[in-house]
Amino acid sequence: MVSSIKLKNIGQLATFNTDRNKLVTLSDVEILIKDGYILAIASQVREASVEIDCGHALVTPGFVDPHTHPVFLHGRENEFELRIKGTSYQEISEAGGGIRSSIEGVRNASENTLYKKVVGRMDRFLRLGTTTVESKSGYGLDIDSELKSLQVIDKVNKNHPIEIIPTFLGAHDFPLEFAENRDGYIDEICQSMIPAVSKQGIAIFCDVFCEKGYFSQEDSERILNTAISYNLIPRIHADEFQDSGAAFLAAKVGAISADHLMAVSKSGIEALSRADVIAILLPGTTYSLGSNTWAPARELINNNVTVALATDFNPGSCHIQSMPFIISLACNYLKMTLEEAFIGATFSAAQSLACADRAGSLEVGKQADLVIWGIKTLIEIPYNVTDIPVQKVIKSGSIVYDSDKVGGFTQMGFE
Ligand code: NIG
Ligand code: FE
Repeated sequence: MVSSIKLKNIGQLATFNTDRNKLVTLSDVEILIKDGYILAIASQVREASVEIDCGHALVTPGFVDPHTHPVFLHGRENEFELRIKGTSYQEISEAGGGIRSSIEGVRNASENTLYKKVVGRMDRFLRLGTTTVESKSGYGLDIDSELKSLQVIDKVNKNHPIEIIPTFLGAHDFPLEFAENRDGYIDEICQSMIPAVSKQGIAIFCDVFCEKGYFSQEDSERILNTAISYNLIPRIHADEFQDSGAAFLAAKVGAISADHLMAVSKSGIEALSRADVIAILLPGTTYSLGSNTWAPARELINNNVTVALATDFNPGSCHIQSMPFIISLACNYLKMTLEEAFIGATFSAAQSLACADRAGSLEVGKQADLVIWGIKTLIEIPYNVTDIPVQKVIKSGSIVYDSDKVGGFTQMGFE
């Protein structure tokens, strides 16, 4: 890391502002970065050891993606093909596909093999402007493979410029050996896995897939309360396909977020609102499942629920890593305004990961995690849909991606 960087000739700086509690767009400002943090944002800042000419382009915070599943061996593109021929996600899962079909790959893969896969995927997140990403375990589903998945996340976090915030998701599905003994798997999670994950000391959060056919409200409550007793913060895959009462559970256990919510009820929304649970919406999943059931973003916002956005990147239901595309979907189909979607993909996302003190907005004292774009205004992000005009990405004060130096990343990460 160079010790100081000055960003000059910024056309527009668009960021959530904590004091004003809204999105602000500043023109004619420069940014001074020192030792990875923002030292000043002003019309003129002092000299620095490196100067970056932004060419009058847009500068924004790096995206924060608060819901991803990147620790898997192979993609499941065959399921996409089945879906476009008319088979549903649930039918594919019942026929032996779905989450369970990713388990063998993770169990049999070495830590190093998974490490290389995850590094490639993190390279791609960064190139798309994401500088902080939550990542879940959840395709190992036995103690050793879940600990291995978290270990991989930790190792990538320590060796890759992106910041990864780890979540334990042992309750993603029931592995085959417990198919006829579901209570046994809940016992295994509560009595063995959570204590081992806590002892390992990597995971910050514990997530549960609370959904009909997966973990019931009662199972999920037991798991999350056990997690809380081990100082893991709860978050929930909630009401994705059916109203499973998961939003109420999120409120009851004090989860930091309830994610998906395509099928949440009106009273579920009210419960989230009363308990200040952040709703993380994943429109890429609706899109990738070929569904037209979009999460009720407007109802959530009208009930004063904070709405964040995420990709849900995973091998099955949503193989999308681009937050710009998610913003585009949110504007078009969740009927969120540009400002709401942008804040949802930056500041609110950081709040949902308990890291808004350092990430998610460009303000003095925060980490210098930012994107210098090849466009001039915020609306051009969703407007460009799939052509992502990222020029440079700066993470903690280091230039970690530069489109002028293609090959700066050795891999595309399509693995
Ligand atoms: O968030 N809903 C549960 N988990 C993922 C799907 C994972 C998979 O299909 O492998 C999701 O959509
Ligand atoms: Fe998910």
